[in-house]
Amino acid sequence: IFENSNDASIEVAQEMANLIKRKQLSNKRCVLGLATGSSPIRVYEELVRMHQEEGLSFENVVTFNLDEYLPMDKENTQSYHYFMHEHLFNHVNIHPENIHIPDGKTPSTTVVEYCLSYERKIKDHGGLDFQLLGIGRTGHIGFNEPGSHYNSGTRVITLDHITRVDAAPAFLGIDNVPRKAITMGIATVRSAKRIVLLGWGQNKADIIKKTVEGEISSHVPATYLQNHKNCTFVLDTGAGSELT
Ligand code: F6R
Repeated sequence: IFENSNDASIEVAQEMANLIKRKQLSNKRCVLGLATGSSPIRVYEELVRMHQEEGLSFENVVTFNLDEYLPMDKENTQSYHYFMHEHLFNHVNIHPENIHIPDGKTPSTTVVEYCLSYERKIKDHGGLDFQLLGIGRTGHIGFNEPGSHYNSGTRVITLDHITRVDAAPAFLGIDNVPRKAITMGIATVRSAKRIVLLGWGQNKADIIKKTVEGEISSHVPATYLQNHKNCTFVLDTGAGSELT
């Protein structure tokens, strides 16, 4: 638990940069699972700063984003595709072919095969070295809403009402928020060698308490992180305020 989310974000960005550099030294690619939303913005800002001011290279970085709304155009400013380019990819030297974000325009007739191939691509790259997460008020990680199975892989999910309410301001009204998304599964996330979940602010305190101290259950999918071997929750004092 950090005094503030700024210091916490810098620490997380530092860990990611160290991993990227360590992999570079042994000529290996670094496979990062990335999240969108408000929580990781400062982390990405710091990674961009390190690239611009300290020469941190993304030459060896391969990324897989957790999720994307369905349907969603890449060009739409609400898309996670747009978000990632705006906050990170447009400002660093990552190879465009190393960027993977679920395609929100995948037709329903091929979406099952598409999700399986997303999953396969992660495995073909040797799996996720590091997974960055935020957490929704429903306890979702990625868009694994309550009811998500421990063994779930990348798939189409119906968004929880609370998730759509939380997204409504950005979409100028709940009616404009897509009802579905493509998300990596719980098993996909848990397959990462290292997981860091970010939680900022008082309005995450309740779900953080349930996630960290509650029983492991599909009602709060983030509780599935409890028995991961290498997972850290990085919180500010607000988000950590209800922990005992
Ligand atoms: C986004 C994602 C979501 C968010 C969560 C928290 O890619 O996977 O699980 O991390 O909804 O969102 P913020 O950070 O906006 O509170």
